[in-house]
Amino acid sequence: MAPSFDRHRRLRGHAGLRDMVRESHVRVTDFIYPLFVTHEQGRHPVLSMPGVDHLSLDELRRETHTLSELGIPAMMIFGIPAVKDERSSEAYAKEGIVQQAVRVVKAENPHMLVSTDVCLCQYNPAGHCGIVRGDQIVNDESLELIAATALSHVQAGADMVAPSDMMDGRIAAIRSVLDGAGYVQTPILSYAVKYASAFYGPFREAAHSAPAFGDRRTYQMDPANVREALREARSDVSEGADLLMVKPALAYMDVIRAIREEFDLPLAAYNVSGEYAMVKAAAERGWIDERAIVMELLTGLKRAGADVLITYFAKDAARYLRESV
Ligand code: PBG
Repeated sequence: MAPSFDRHRRLRGHAGLRDMVRESHVRVTDFIYPLFVTHEQGRHPVLSMPGVDHLSLDELRRETHTLSELGIPAMMIFGIPAVKDERSSEAYAKEGIVQQAVRVVKAENPHMLVSTDVCLCQYNPAGHCGIVRGDQIVNDESLELIAATALSHVQAGADMVAPSDMMDGRIAAIRSVLDGAGYVQTPILSYAVKYASAFYGPFREAAHSAPAFGDRRTYQMDPANVREALREARSDVSEGADLLMVKPALAYMDVIRAIREEFDLPLAAYNVSGEYAMVKAAAERGWIDERAIVMELLTGLKRAGADVLITYFAKDAARYLRESV
């Protein structure tokens, strides 16, 4: 009598067959590479994020070239301003660092998909994502500055804006300002589901944006919640978001899956700074196989339901993908 059980291993015996039946794929065209631009000269390493640097505008030009050669189609620009003030003025200044950066990238490669992080936290001394009054982060007054920031990025040539502030109503505010200025075709990638996470630690050092008092829990989400994620996403869809994002990624794969099942918009996962730093730190000690771990993590995000991967690993992963064909 032949034993009666399933032969799952039949599909695993041949490498070609394994490739053929693979359900999720990481492609270089999935990547958005985040980068940090400063008014300073040269390239300065971010200590907690090995392989990531603060870039001058000149270095940004070189980096654009490198990304283009690797086939990475998109970047997300974060700016580190020269001065911070209460009104976050440099966030929406014509000659602000992000606005200049956008022009530099577009001059170097007009085909690069340039998206910008739209937020105020790097630009005011309190280090909060909205206007601060006493110990409050005020919502409605912040919307005007956030929308002005988005508009100034688009006027500089940005292809897409990505608001990360988590104020209520920001997608509607940005959409209305962009449409009013004639930018009806510019998409908004909403950081719709953004948790108050310790995984942003290394980024806050990189962007000089740690809050001077309190934390971000009155506007970013409680890591314990998933139904609330659906409500956040629903609002952003109704306000006019074109793509949704879940952030961070690795501790939130169930949230990615829930959003994927409930909404039909393209979905991005932001594999954030702390997630990157943990992998780099363990790899530096020889405790893990970095290449295998990176590809397994990124594949997991695709399997969970993400279409777009925002990751500091984009350059490494682009090289791995190139070598593996
Ligand atoms: C700014 C912003 C943050 C990140 C992206 N945009 C930090 C924060 O909200 O505290 C985090 C990115 C990362 O950790 O890689 N609002």
